[in-house]
Amino acid sequence: MLKVTVILCAAMLATTAWSKDDPAAGAKLYTANCTACHGADRAGMPGAFPALTDIGKRLDAAQIKDKIRKGGGLMPPFSQLSQQEIDDITSYLAK
Ligand code: HEC
Repeated sequence: MLKVTVILCAAMLATTAWSKDDPAAGAKLYTANCTACHGADRAGMPGAFPALTDIGKRLDAAQIKDKIRKGGGLMPPFSQLSQQEIDDITSYLAK
C-alpha cells in the first residue's frame, strides 16, 4: 500500500511538472465520473446535487480541486484521479 502511494505521488509530481490544463480531456473525465450526480448538462438535481454551471463564479480553482479530491457531504472523494485529471476537470468546469 505504501509503495502504491509513493508511486502515485511520484506520478502526480511528474505530471504537474509539464502539466497543461486540457478542458477537452476534462469534459471526458466529467462525463465518466460526475454526470451520475451533477448531470450531463451540469444542472445537478435541485435539493440533492448542486448545479455546476456557474461553479467558476462561486468557487476558485483551488476550492474546486479540493472538493473533487476530498469530496464532502454526499459527494464521494475522487482520490483515484491524478492531479492532472483533476486540473483538467477543473479547467473544464471553471471556464
Ligand atoms: C455520488 C454523487 C456525486 C458524484 C458522482 C459527484 N458529485 Fe460533486 N457533489 C455531490 C454532492 C452531494 C455535492 C454537495 C456536497 C456538499 O454539500 O458539500 C457535490 C458538490 C460538488 C462541488 C461543490 C459545489 C458547490 O456548489 O459548492 C463540486 C465542484 C463538485 N461536486 C464537483 C464534482 C466533480 C468534478 C465530480 C466528478 C469528478 C463530482 N462532483 C462527482 C455529489 C456528487
